[in-house]
Amino acid sequence: MLKRFFSAADVPDVQLLIDKAISYKHSPFADNTLGKQKTIGLVFFNPSLRTRLSSQKAAQNLGMNVMLVNAGTESWKMEFEDGAIMNGTTVEHIKEGAAVLGEYCDIIAVRSFASLTDREQDYREEIILKTEQYSGRPLISLESATRHPLQSLADMMTIREIIKKANPRITLSWAPHPKALPQAVANSFLEWAQRYGAEITITHPPGYELSEEFTSGIRPEYNQQTAFENADIVYAKNWSSYENYGASLAHNENWIITKKKMDATNNASLLHCLPVRRNVEIADDALDNVNSRVIQQAGNRVWAAQAVIGDILTELGK
Ligand code: CP
Repeated sequence: MLKRFFSAADVPDVQLLIDKAISYKHSPFADNTLGKQKTIGLVFFNPSLRTRLSSQKAAQNLGMNVMLVNAGTESWKMEFEDGAIMNGTTVEHIKEGAAVLGEYCDIIAVRSFASLTDREQDYREEIILKTEQYSGRPLISLESATRHPLQSLADMMTIREIIKKANPRITLSWAPHPKALPQAVANSFLEWAQRYGAEITITHPPGYELSEEFTSGIRPEYNQQTAFENADIVYAKNWSSYENYGASLAHNENWIITKKKMDATNNASLLHCLPVRRNVEIADDALDNVNSRVIQQAGNRVWAAQAVIGDILTELGK
């Protein structure tokens, strides 16, 4: 059973958790009293559509009370630094803020993106780990600086639904974006795909190498066309540079995913975590194609979240 949900390392058996998510997809209300008289707090330091609504729906399917706060805009500006002299813009320290959330909630779920300005600080994951520490409650990551585990669980579930054979050939492809984005989705996808069991190819322009903590020595294929050959799944995502931390390097617009590129695969399905910039990251002709499974993937966010929350509730009930 899950005690927390921050990375793939917290999950004893990835396939069993996918089984559970698929089971909830077939029977959404099978455990509709499991969370009776329990409260989940969903804390968002950054915007969201899918994560917010899928987590809310999942918790409600389990009979939970749901409290949601947009911490970036609707609550006090939080301080995370130990020993800070709070005479500036921060109003509440995480020591009190998280402890108060712990008084109100049985499970705390937090979204907090990378700053993309200080790599060491981002990769220390202080915001989410201090929230866990000071709340004293089981923590669910709704996307942290380095990982997006609920997305990755839904991704693996979707891959299981699409590809029945073991060890599918998955290509993670960098795609262009006008803004510098965190590495969290790509990091997390790699972490989970390795646990799932897959033949993984990573393709991106030079300069976008991800941390070896997540690539585990998989060498990038810098030729996108070569990387697409024989792929069963193409997972498209933008990320900024890890080495030149947070930088978005110029002149890679030709990395856009198109139908023509998808046609060179093994009839691959196209996945993307969404939101997607149409005709920048992925062309209309690929996104509107029958092989695009991005809506199925987003729909599976509910069942992934329900499996995670359900497992933690079961552990709490012991
Ligand atoms: N994929 C994803 O996490 O979407 P949101 O940012 O809308 O939650």
